[in-house]
Amino acid sequence: MLKTIKQNWPVVAIVLAVTVAVVRTMVQAPDTPPPATAAMPPEPWTGPSLLTDRQLQGPERALVAYGADLVANTARYLGPQGSVAHLSNGLNCQNCHLDAGRRAWGNNYGAVASTYPKHRDRSGHVESIANRVNDCFERSLNGQALDTTSHEMRAILAYINWLGQAVPAGTKPAGAGIAELPYMNRPADPLKGQQVYTAKCVSCHGTDGQGQLAENGSWYVYPPLWGPHSYNTGAGLFRLSRFAGFVHDNMPYNQSSHHAPALSTEEAWDVAAFVNSQPRPTKDLNQDWPDISKKPIDHPFGPYADSFSETQHKYGPFGPIAANRKIHKTK
Ligand code: HEC
Ligand code: HEC
Repeated sequence: MLKTIKQNWPVVAIVLAVTVAVVRTMVQAPDTPPPATAAMPPEPWTGPSLLTDRQLQGPERALVAYGADLVANTARYLGPQGSVAHLSNGLNCQNCHLDAGRRAWGNNYGAVASTYPKHRDRSGHVESIANRVNDCFERSLNGQALDTTSHEMRAILAYINWLGQAVPAGTKPAGAGIAELPYMNRPADPLKGQQVYTAKCVSCHGTDGQGQLAENGSWYVYPPLWGPHSYNTGAGLFRLSRFAGFVHDNMPYNQSSHHAPALSTEEAWDVAAFVNSQPRPTKDLNQDWPDISKKPIDHPFGPYADSFSETQHKYGPFGPIAANRKIHKTK
């Protein structure tokens, strides 16, 4: 007997292993929960609600509430027909920072209070939250910077700091900002993107991409995606990865989410290519990216530290550019 086992040990070992595996699956109930050690993705951050914050009172509460209103209804106060000043193109911050900057994966403000002031490669210096807010005024809202000592700026800062109060300093919670989509191994295609636009975006943003104004003309029910009232060429959304990531997780509005997106990643890249090929206001970007080697892979304006064309930096494929950077970093 011993001799036979020795001779046939590989067969015996396999039989034993299979038996153990079969018995294991038999004893394990089919609905056994996964072991506690399995890595669960962290819960994404969503902003607190003023309605449940009973601590915040008096003038401080009023300031935070005004900040929330300015983020949600920017045009009403600061748009072309604004009641306080005329500084911006008529978009609301909330058009791109959903639920007034509180929605998971909706380009929220969850990491702002915890990570600013910080060095930013675009400007080449340390930026405060006020600087960053004014970046969006001058680019995303194609307008003018807000006086940093104004009541409005103080309110926006109070609101953003209140939103992020529970986020530990130096950390970026899950779901903050815009998700990174995997690169395609072909360039994003404006023609394919036009088909996506016609099928899935036209009903709200319009055949001409100009959105839809409210009846009194002072704010957008559906914001424009290109043309004179849209973000300019210096805005974050003008980079394909920012547009594609935002749209993939959030558009069509309220019919899409990070875990149940309405568009495939390819559709998101292609529609980004289509929209960002349409005319829009330009911005002088000469002061941006003083160190050109720090330009994001999808920054569509040269000069670059590599030899890829502006077209490839705009539409991709981005994989080869990213691989080339890795090689040069490790050298
Ligand atoms: C047209 C879209 C758009 C509008 C409108 C807009 N933003 Fe932004 N904002 C962006 C994008 C895109 C980013 C960069 C996100 C990224 O790079 O992941 C950004 C980034 C920011 C950040 C930095 C976030 C971070 O985590 O570092 C702040 C703060 C901010 N915006 C505030 C505002 C405020 C306040 C307004 C209104 C005055 C506004 N934005 C309007 C698109 C917009
Ligand atoms: C059901 C209506 C609807 C559809 C369909 C829709 N959107 Fe939107 N979109 C909105 C609304 C509403 C907002 C502003 C959200 C807010 O203010 O809370 C918005 C905001 C945006 C923004 C940021 C603001 C801006 O003007 O730049 C982009 C970009 C965008 N949508 C792209 C798209 C794309 C691309 C599609 C098609 C894949 C799409 N949307 C489909 C309603 C829609």
